Amino acid sequence: MRGWHVRNNCFCLRLGVTVAPSGVRAGDSAGPGFPTDYRKGRIKMSKRRIVYEGKAKILYEGPEPGTLIQYFKDDTTAFDAQKKAVLDGKGVLNNRISEFIMTQLSAIGIPTHFIRRLNMREQLIRKVEIIPLEVVVRNIAAGSLSTRLGMPEGQQLPRPLVEFYYKSDALHDPMVSEEHIAAFGWATPQEYDDIIALALRVNDYMSGLFAGAGIRLVDFKIEFGRYFENDHDMPRILLADEISPDSCRLWDYKTGEKLDKDRFRRDLGGVTEAYAEVARRLGIIKESGDTDNVVSFTGGSK
Ligand SMILES: Nc1ncnc2c1ncn2[C@@H]1O[C@H](COP(=O)(O)OP(=O)(O)OP(=O)(O)O)[C@@H](O)[C@H]1O
Ligand SMILES: [Mg+2]
Repeated sequence: MRGWHVRNNCFCLRLGVTVAPSGVRAGDSAGPGFPTDYRKGRIKMSKRRIVYEGKAKILYEGPEPGTLIQYFKDDTTAFDAQKKAVLDGKGVLNNRISEFIMTQLSAIGIPTHFIRRLNMREQLIRKVEIIPLEVVVRNIAAGSLSTRLGMPEGQQLPRPLVEFYYKSDALHDPMVSEEHIAAFGWATPQEYDDIIALALRVNDYMSGLFAGAGIRLVDFKIEFGRYFENDHDMPRILLADEISPDSCRLWDYKTGEKLDKDRFRRDLGGVTEAYAEVARRLGIIKESGDTDNVVSFTGGSK
């Protein structure tokens, strides 16, 4: 795939700083006291407090109250973390792709947690109280919908479907309904309505964004949270977490080739290359040409 080339047994990813919609130059460190070693994808962070370490990201205390730093790891998991791998460069790509999409969504009035990208693996975000729901929007049957309802993968759905899953690794994120959400107080009726309206707007916008890049948006998962601007004000609902090929199903319009985490789930290979292809088609990373801003990652990226 374009955008990636092998040099000296390294997979080299071009990250053009000129196309970054916001944030600082790729390669800049997060600031004084945050020395960065990008080649290894590791940062000496002794001065920062970890708020949460998940499967794909680490949240650090941010520089100001109400902020966090979201660090994108190369770790990849599937099937309740039974399947694991480290995919060199994946975190860098997801940081850039999520930044790009969140910035685009902000521009059309969707409130998001994204403030700015700090460096290749980190972004500054607003700290929210996560609503314990994974919100899935589907346009085409795939994955668990196909399994549950016996619907062939690739079948166009009559309209976009919004589904909710309760965020609990221990319970394997069970599907829940509006009734459960209301009865157990996971979201107020107003928040529930807002979340559905926002999820459908995100779907409309992203479907068009990806279509313009020759990619079909099959489905995706998003998370929302409550942001308390002032202690006494009502919280605002913000789009949180990430939007990347880890959380979307993306198929090439012409060939149907998968350009998302299903490549990892189904052992199709070329996972990071597919993510890079998405970034390239969205104009986030350069095609080829100048030799500036080339970041090398040692090892393969199956
Ligand atoms: N703006 C935010 N404020 C607070 N927490 C956030 C924010 N954005 C995302 N999160 C949370 O940070 C974590 C990100 O880490 P990661 O995605 O690796 O977690 P995970 O292992 O997938 O676990 P989870 O099941 O909670 O998503 C998630 O728990 C997510 O809900
Ligand atoms: Mg997660």
